[in-house]
Amino acid sequence: MLKEKMLAALNEQINAEQYSALLYLSMSANLNDMGLPGFANWMYVQYQEELSHANKFYNYVVERGGKVQLKAIEQVPTKWEGVIDIYKATLEHEQKVTDLINSLVDVAIEERDHATQSFLRWFVDEQVEEEANVTEILDTLKLINGQGNGIFMLDREMRSRTFVDTTAAQ
Ligand code: FEO
Repeated sequence: MLKEKMLAALNEQINAEQYSALLYLSMSANLNDMGLPGFANWMYVQYQEELSHANKFYNYVVERGGKVQLKAIEQVPTKWEGVIDIYKATLEHEQKVTDLINSLVDVAIEERDHATQSFLRWFVDEQVEEEANVTEILDTLKLINGQGNGIFMLDREMRSRTFVDTTAAQ
């Protein structure tokens, strides 16, 4: 059985992951609008990943006999200056998510909830990968200054990303 504080924190995280999903869907729409279908695809896959994260938390709470409580999702931004701005915002957002995951681990340690600590390990590792991937794209975007032939080539590369549900692996 999940303790009250742990359950509340996990429910908050379901909301945070759902917010992340909508944030990336909004970014995907903007990237399409900017004439960058490859980047829009990459961001759409990011949206699908975030939904799978929310569902992973949802299923864990249910599995532990906790009551899922869905709350209203905060309005996401709807406009950005350009593709560099979008990836800067993505990196900042993922850094915030990393903080949230670390805080969840802190609660699990406080509550001596070893099962939740073990469950959260997947997310700790996932955040390392998320931050590294976005940093790499952002660095490349800065190098080509987000324009010219470079952006055209990079956009083509971004088309190949497909959604693979890795959350079931645990
Ligand atoms: Fe669900 Fe991008 O962290």
